[in-house]
Amino acid sequence: QGPCDIYAAGGTPCVAAHSTTRALYGNYNGPLYQVRRSSDNATRDIGVLSAGGVANAAAQDSFCANTTCLITIIYDQSGRNNRLTQAPPGGFSGPAAGGYDNLAVATAAPVTVGGQKAYGVYVAPGTGYRNNNTNGVAKGDQPEGMYAIFDGTHYNGGCCFDYGNAETNSRDNGNGTMEAIYFGNIKVWGYGAGNGPWIMADLENGLFSGVNQHYNAGDPSISHRFLTAIVKGEPNHWAIRGGNAQSGSLSTFYNGVRPNVAGYNPMKKEGAIILGIGGDNSVGARGTFYEGVMTSGYPSDATENAVQANVVAAGYSTTTGGGQNGTLTPGSAISLRATTPGYTDRYIRHQNDNAITSVITSSSSTLDKSDATWIVRSGLANSSCVSFESRNYPGDYLRHSYYQLYRQRDDGSSQFAQDATFCPQAGKNGQGTSFASYNFPARFLRHYNNTVYIASNGGSNAFDNATQWSNDVSWVVSQPWA
Ligand code: AHR
Ligand code: AHR
Repeated sequence: QGPCDIYAAGGTPCVAAHSTTRALYGNYNGPLYQVRRSSDNATRDIGVLSAGGVANAAAQDSFCANTTCLITIIYDQSGRNNRLTQAPPGGFSGPAAGGYDNLAVATAAPVTVGGQKAYGVYVAPGTGYRNNNTNGVAKGDQPEGMYAIFDGTHYNGGCCFDYGNAETNSRDNGNGTMEAIYFGNIKVWGYGAGNGPWIMADLENGLFSGVNQHYNAGDPSISHRFLTAIVKGEPNHWAIRGGNAQSGSLSTFYNGVRPNVAGYNPMKKEGAIILGIGGDNSVGARGTFYEGVMTSGYPSDATENAVQANVVAAGYSTTTGGGQNGTLTPGSAISLRATTPGYTDRYIRHQNDNAITSVITSSSSTLDKSDATWIVRSGLANSSCVSFESRNYPGDYLRHSYYQLYRQRDDGSSQFAQDATFCPQAGKNGQGTSFASYNFPARFLRHYNNTVYIASNGGSNAFDNATQWSNDVSWVVSQPWA
């Protein structure tokens, strides 16, 4: 059984069902999403391992080996063909050709689901998906429900990381022309308790945390690594609910009448579907999406509670290993541990401005621990990727020059930004993470004779040696040493 079987049994069937990680119906056996690779622009549908099961991430990994893949289509499992594709320009233009939004890098949000590898949709600012011509999605004041699973640690204060119902012309058509789940910590419109992030409802010209336009104490800051977020609405009635997608039950953060602001009762929903953007194609937000649905009809709390149990049972987990998880969330401090047999006690550190590996243990000096600690930053050249700022030399980054890695001050140049940007993907030896150089995408961060390079799998330089390559380019993102 999947979430959509539960909604159907509750009399509120899914009219859109999107996930890059798993089937949302017990018998779904079709494609989940499509990727396109940069090497030859070929596309490939990624399906499930078995009917009702988890995504076939290995199919993506082999199709995308040694190149970069983008997620081009997120299919609709409901049978209504409400698929999500690259969002077109609207009130605002995106950064891609023709004013379209960017597509997500297919390897940027690795997770496991029930122990199987899968990839989420990593939305860096500028990324967005949309469908302006849907079938069966609520319009006007019709009732609907939505849930989505997000990364509760990946958000910002830009407008607007949304999933749900929006305008069919990608423009701001006035109060009440949207009804979508919002997640993040923007305070321009509404907000809840604490400093955020909050689950709110984007109802157009307003993110609502409850009945009031701005502050509603009942909507808590919530940031579970895997977050269940719910918004649902029917005539003069709506609700916000949420919880930890890895355990426990849902809480209700608002359940009552429409906001006490003109224009939201009755609602004027238009029935487009957005992911990662605002209704008018505002593209300032970041976040990560794993799965989500929209229903016809207002789901009962009991139905949603059963969906939450299904999500918990699916077993979302982070991929990075061994009880020492670090995350590649911008702002986190991490250390990068080698996975090559015999070298698994070594970490990437700087010394005399060079990047090398050293054995670091709990009894290492504070200096060694600091040198082996990096702050993850949104990639200087591409926010879908990452850069690594030195812990003890703020403003200095790990960058390559003539394929060797150094700690150097960001000089603001585009060359520096590119040389200091690395795109994470699943570890080439099946462990941890490999980091493709942004400007040399077939080269990955590698240790060789304890010096760090960007290396290709075979090639003319000694450090391109194919022996041990997949081990040498695979790193465990670990708890920071300092
Ligand atoms: O309601 C908040 C945002 O305001 C909407 O997402 C966008 O369409 C408008 O800019
Ligand atoms: O490391 C390879 C290239 O060498 C870098 O992009 C550039 O900084 C230098 O020329």
